[in-house]
Amino acid sequence: MADNEASQPNLWSSRLMFILAAAGSAVGLGNIWKFPYIAGENGGGAFVVVYLLCIAAIGVPIMAAEVLLGRAGRQSPINTLRALVRRSGASKGWTLIGWMGVLGGFLILSFYAVIAGWALHYIFQAGSGTFTGASSAEVSGVFDDFLASPWTMLFWHTVFMAGTVAIVARGVNRGLEFAIRWFMPVLFVLILLLVGYAMVVGDFAAGFGFLFGFDFGALTVAGVQEAMGHAFFTLSVGMGAIMAYGAYVPGNVSIPGTVLTIASVDTVVALAAGLAIFPIVFANPDLEAGAGPGLLFVTLPIAFGNLPLGAFIGTLFFILISFAAITSAISIIEPALAWTVEQFRITRARVAIALGGICWFLGIGSVLSFNVWSNVHIVGERTFFDFVDYVTQVWMLPIGGFLIVLFAAWVLPKEIVTEQLGFSSGFKWKLWLVLGRVVAPIGVLLVFVYTTFLA
Ligand code: PHE
Repeated sequence: MADNEASQPNLWSSRLMFILAAAGSAVGLGNIWKFPYIAGENGGGAFVVVYLLCIAAIGVPIMAAEVLLGRAGRQSPINTLRALVRRSGASKGWTLIGWMGVLGGFLILSFYAVIAGWALHYIFQAGSGTFTGASSAEVSGVFDDFLASPWTMLFWHTVFMAGTVAIVARGVNRGLEFAIRWFMPVLFVLILLLVGYAMVVGDFAAGFGFLFGFDFGALTVAGVQEAMGHAFFTLSVGMGAIMAYGAYVPGNVSIPGTVLTIASVDTVVALAAGLAIFPIVFANPDLEAGAGPGLLFVTLPIAFGNLPLGAFIGTLFFILISFAAITSAISIIEPALAWTVEQFRITRARVAIALGGICWFLGIGSVLSFNVWSNVHIVGERTFFDFVDYVTQVWMLPIGGFLIVLFAAWVLPKEIVTEQLGFSSGFKWKLWLVLGRVVAPIGVLLVFVYTTFLA
């Protein structure tokens, strides 16, 4: 069967563009903000091992499954699944994956935009010299004051959502590609710069030991669960974002190699972020590795506050975190956006505004979680923000990813898979079968069973 490239009006302009777009989706707050703080809360080393294993054994096959499904269907995830279900004669129930992804996307973007708003706010804090020469205690104080001001946080949340909407409204080539092409290369350079800085002024040995010293005694059951959930979150898999991007991949791009590249870039950036942040934490007696969501917003300003040109580089850095966040945000909303456009033939711009509005509204719950509603708990000790973060990362993405890989590896007819992967026998084919049919789904199940019943 010929590739149905012609049926998809939007295509990435090259293989590199797809790699940058998917890496732009993968590299985001998950790498720079979340990974260091959850590694810190879970004691480092052993958590990192579990996370890396989950990336390699579970995340990569699922990402390949998403790209192949997306390109085989060439539509939004919901309609792609619908079309592939028809071609495979499978149960319509599989399209639920697409719906769950849309819901997950709203929830994720709602809190994601709030944290990205923190980064935006910090561009101006760093730029105006607030941190220059400030003590650690003063820098922590600035952060605490910010968390206590719902209006300021709401303002920046709104700015971030508006920026996301403005980009996605312009479409795949003029909007998404444009943003990605500019933001990604600069981001890589700045992260390297920061690691270099941490090597010079931080306690690099301690930071390195924390990330790579494998003390399995420090690993808790919740830590294992979080490591797997984070592997999904950081690779953007399990909710259809990569499937939506897969629909725009030109027919001649090889999926396995591309997916490996994307996952490697994501992992390297996360580890680099850890190597930039922990040496600074350990060089500073006032800071703790397990500080939680504020880790990045306290350690980095302290570091920059005492660095020559720190205000300038710090400003740049928060600009880049914001860019990293926006190249992810645009992918989180794409499954819902693409579906609405296909289904109702409304312009992307209108749909973008409407869907952005929904995420913005949900995000208010996360804004308030840090102040007015900080004592309102949803399930256990979790605030609204903690809860949304938890259900999406620990439940929705792994369940979505599990079903996606089952569908691609067990249900989809072999000729569709072969056509997408470009091989149908030999070592590569066997590897796909082993990873997609067995290792990835059983890996997810094992973590679920272990963390839910045996703990
Ligand atoms: N991968 C992104 C990050 O690490 C977040 C994301 C999750 C993007 C789910 C798309 C889908 O920041």
